[in-house]
Amino acid sequence: MQSRREFHANLIGSAVAFSLLETLWARDLFAADAKPTIAKWMADLVAMSKDLKGQKLTDLQFQTKMEELYKKVNLADLCALVKLDELEKRKLPDNGAANYGFDLSKVDGLPADVGFGKQIFACKKGRSIVPHGHANMCTGFIVLKGQWHGRHYDRVETKADHYVIKPTIDRTFGPGELSTISDHKDNIHWFEATSETGYIFNVHVIGYDKTIKESSGRLYVDPQGEKLAGGLVKAAKMTSAECHKKYG
Ligand SMILES: [Fe+2]
Repeated sequence: MQSRREFHANLIGSAVAFSLLETLWARDLFAADAKPTIAKWMADLVAMSKDLKGQKLTDLQFQTKMEELYKKVNLADLCALVKLDELEKRKLPDNGAANYGFDLSKVDGLPADVGFGKQIFACKKGRSIVPHGHANMCTGFIVLKGQWHGRHYDRVETKADHYVIKPTIDRTFGPGELSTISDHKDNIHWFEATSETGYIFNVHVIGYDKTIKESSGRLYVDPQGEKLAGGLVKAAKMTSAECHKKYG
């Protein structure tokens, strides 16, 4: 038999537990409410890509908006939309990243031309989306699955055979975490899978600035170059083969 005191203590304990559960439940419902449907989320991405190309947004404004939108993604719905479970059945490459397309044509309310490029990158443990930058491109990653070591650098100066770069981000990225690049901020990215497998969602918008004449293709770079004053690094330009040999 429990004493009256123990009985009361248990009752209070249960009441506290119940109220905590109730709070968590209410919060979770609220959080779910705050996330747009995946169709609305994609429509917002289409709209802001159009605004970037139409020069209604600068690349830095776009980057901020993209990050705000990326933070609101319903990750489970995004994984379902790109059919991540099917992609996971494919064999991953021994070097570098696999690159998979996905279909948005069945998403309600999207135009035929969404105005951005899109893909899923996938790596096995220890393999990388190798270090590279872009010109005339804004792009953003969302980790769908796995753990990644993500590094970014500002591309400060472009020389004949190297870039002068500045490290800006160097940390672990897990599911739902994101990063973006533009010509003016965090231009170079490098993501290495640190879990058995890793999957990343990517959208990119190219050719938004008519004054930039460089192509939007990848600018492969060696970020582990000579250290310069002021935290800068002399990062040699590389070919894709050289970059994959060292970092893939
Ligand atoms: Fe890239």
